[in-house]
Amino acid sequence: MKNKNKTVWGHRFNNQTSKIFENIGSSIDVDKRLFEEDIFASIIHTQMLVKQKIIDKKKGSKIIGGLKKIRTEIRRNKFKFKKKYEDIHLNIEKRLFEIIGENAGYLHIARSRNDQVITDFKLWTKKASLEIISKINDLIKSILKKSESNINTIMPGFTHLKNAQPISFAHYLLAYIEMFKRDKKRFYSNIDYINECPLGVGALAGTSYKIDRKFTSKKLGFKKPTSNSIDTVSDRDFALDFLSSASICAVHISRLAEELIIWNSDIFKLIKINDKMLTGSSIMPQKKNPDPAELIRGRTGKNFGSLQAMLTTLKGLPLSYYKDMQEDKSLVFNSYDILLESIIIANELIKNLSANKKRMITLSSEGYTTATDFADYLVQNKNLSFRDAYKISAKLVNYAEKKKKKLNELSFNEVKRIRNDLKKDVMKIFDVINAFSTVGIFTFCPISPFSIQFNLVGVFIFNFIIC
Ligand code: ARG
Repeated sequence: MKNKNKTVWGHRFNNQTSKIFENIGSSIDVDKRLFEEDIFASIIHTQMLVKQKIIDKKKGSKIIGGLKKIRTEIRRNKFKFKKKYEDIHLNIEKRLFEIIGENAGYLHIARSRNDQVITDFKLWTKKASLEIISKINDLIKSILKKSESNINTIMPGFTHLKNAQPISFAHYLLAYIEMFKRDKKRFYSNIDYINECPLGVGALAGTSYKIDRKFTSKKLGFKKPTSNSIDTVSDRDFALDFLSSASICAVHISRLAEELIIWNSDIFKLIKINDKMLTGSSIMPQKKNPDPAELIRGRTGKNFGSLQAMLTTLKGLPLSYYKDMQEDKSLVFNSYDILLESIIIANELIKNLSANKKRMITLSSEGYTTATDFADYLVQNKNLSFRDAYKISAKLVNYAEKKKKKLNELSFNEVKRIRNDLKKDVMKIFDVINAFSTVGIFTFCPISPFSIQFNLVGVFIFNFIIC
């Protein structure tokens, strides 16, 4: 075999890698996504070797020139990736030999693929986390916009999927903003953990060259170099952090999707979704199905699966590097792709839905949703304990149920049968328009339409500033 076509370890081996093994051993189809990070890290590594006088300037500029040429080739789709050279690191190194000749051999001084791959992967994961955060921000903005136009839209709030208490549609939507804000925080805090530079730890034992790890760390945008070389090449916590944050974010997206599917159903009819985000049936002409919402709900399992697979891969691995770890990239890449798409689709769904206000208000007064407000009224106006007030309110609900009436359909005389010292103003309580509350947003907020408006406006201003 000519030197040119040999793998880097070909000089030690008597036989070529079997084609069957090559198919699973090679990761190039997956890790070519790391090419920007790999070339960036190699350029900085070369600059450090020159600065430390480990290689001379001339060799350094040849290497950097060659690397930049390769970057342009890959960006322009002119690069031929070869399975034979296993991964992105060796594909690039092999091409460097073709472009600049034997000088390419100086690039791998004082590093191993083990520190190289984690450096690339950490850089990529950092970039991916920021991209997810920016898409979450877009989603938050759309939810805020939808909430703003629905402050006075009253809907039934549910517990156990039974009508519970009347709430503002805006209040409900804002709950999701809190969830997505926590997701953002999780991805930001992951970046903090990622922020230690692996480059320079070699295969596992460090290196005897006088390298400057602080230099490479700073130039690559890390806070500091990692501390223990064995841990550095064994550590995939940052991949677990990413996958776990992605799974939690996917849970939130899936709950939102589930909710939209329920609300859009013919039974609930609480929202309308624009035809743009619906599909028809091949047999039932009347159908308009919320497929995009179902798909993002369905794909959540793939995010969980990647996390589970990564945990399982790592749990039995002794320190330090094992080839098992090569599987990490496809798991993280897939989870990222799915999550990013799901966030974008969720955003599109939010933009394309509208509240069915009439239906919302009708459903709000079904299921005796003002019974709690009546109990509260009795506590506040009749000096009762909550338990006594609860009993009286339950009696009224039983009466209304027997009469097949909603609470707001009862006459004042009927209400007085339950307690005869009540004044007419009690009747206001049974009207959901007067009853819906923002207690969940601001615990001490007095229940009045003015304070609801005021407080929600406060929430909007606050959220626009932070996202
Ligand atoms: N492609 C490998 C991976 O992603 C790079 C590290 C290879 N190191 C080794 N000792 N075989 O894990």
